[in-house]
Amino acid sequence: MPDHTRYYVAGAFVLGTVLALLYQNRKYADRKENPTSELYTNQLLRILSRFSRIDDLDTVRLSLAEIQQSLEKGGENIKEGIEGCIGDTPLIKIKSLSEATGCEILAKAEFLNGAGNSPKDRVALSIIQMAEEQGLLIPHSGDTIYEGTVGSTGISLAAICRARGYKAHICMPNDMATEKSDLLLKLGAEVERVRPAPIVDQKQFVNLARTRAKEHTDDPEKPGRGLFADQFETEANWRAHFTGTGPEIYEQTGGYLHAFVSGAGTGGTISGVALFLRSKLPDLKIVLADPQGSGLFNKVKYGVMFDPKEREGTRRRHQVDTIVEGIGINRVTHNFEVGRELISDAIRVTDEQATGMARWLVENDGIFVGSSSAVNCVAATELAKQLGPGHRIVTLLCDSGARHLSKFWANTEPIGGVDRDVSMEHILAS
Ligand SMILES: Cc1ncc(COP(=O)(O)O)c(C=O)c1O
Repeated sequence: MPDHTRYYVAGAFVLGTVLALLYQNRKYADRKENPTSELYTNQLLRILSRFSRIDDLDTVRLSLAEIQQSLEKGGENIKEGIEGCIGDTPLIKIKSLSEATGCEILAKAEFLNGAGNSPKDRVALSIIQMAEEQGLLIPHSGDTIYEGTVGSTGISLAAICRARGYKAHICMPNDMATEKSDLLLKLGAEVERVRPAPIVDQKQFVNLARTRAKEHTDDPEKPGRGLFADQFETEANWRAHFTGTGPEIYEQTGGYLHAFVSGAGTGGTISGVALFLRSKLPDLKIVLADPQGSGLFNKVKYGVMFDPKEREGTRRRHQVDTIVEGIGINRVTHNFEVGRELISDAIRVTDEQATGMARWLVENDGIFVGSSSAVNCVAATELAKQLGPGHRIVTLLCDSGARHLSKFWANTEPIGGVDRDVSMEHILAS
């Protein structure tokens, strides 16, 4: 059977099934016999809306699988543990930025991921699932996951480890906001805060986590094994965004968008999303949002990896010279390299621009986010100005401002302060 005929047959089947289920459900609802009918209807309508955009057989299969699941659950909407609250995050229009630019600026609310409240939930779950599939982790055996992280990945790993019967040991630089290490301790993780060091130093936080994992495995006194999560290099990272974040954005926008903007810490998000979206939308612009002090801006623009501040000899004390946490890096990781060729441009964001944007989002939209989200929004707004009105740009809101009170937000002007009417032009020029 030719391909398009197969789509029509499969499509007609899905449509028929959904309509029959909706009709059946309406009958129940009329007789008030099914208290969950509204939820059920909404779920089926969501499937139907996806069906209306079907352009390949995989989507038909996915829709059928969802109908089957929906039927099995009788229309209930219950998440399977905290892992069930990861992904499917809302895509929200940032009204103030859209009005200011004449473009639609949309942001994926990744801070609403349910375990560690950042996009790193997707990655942590993907790393653990992959290790479980490979037989590298056994629940309640003492198996421990070791990771070097500026915080977010550690928080996601620590939460999911608890849910699945593993321990977590997190190595992080000691100049990161203390909210993150406090939270890790409350999640029962072991935390090692170490002085910031270049990647060539064996005491650097990522190297240290790798060493600790090996020490655990080699120690006959310790129960279980040590597993180095390796978020910077593992395939599980970008794949989580290739199979999750990317398809969700495509579906939520109905495939209508002109640009995707994201910062890079490991590079997993920008690479995974770019690889998926570009396979569907060959003309889509992928733009890196890079904080000051990071080398990635130069890598994308000029193919070299240095920052002018370092060249001037202002030796960095921090991993990158910025108050922004989570994005910006001075080496090329596997997760960045996987999607690098798809990145068409980069926008550098200063700390002043980022703090100005963070404050703007609270004052105008009631959105309270952390530093990497603010960097993303500055870059999305800059790009909107470059592209001109009428374009649709998607970016990410990564985590809440609550994770950044003692550092990033401590550097931000008070909300409702004297220069309350600061303009977007002023923020972008700072
Ligand atoms: C808060 C936050 N936002 C964004 C990112 C960057 O994501 P990625 O590592 O996928 O480049 C990170 C990375 O750790 C992060 O912690």
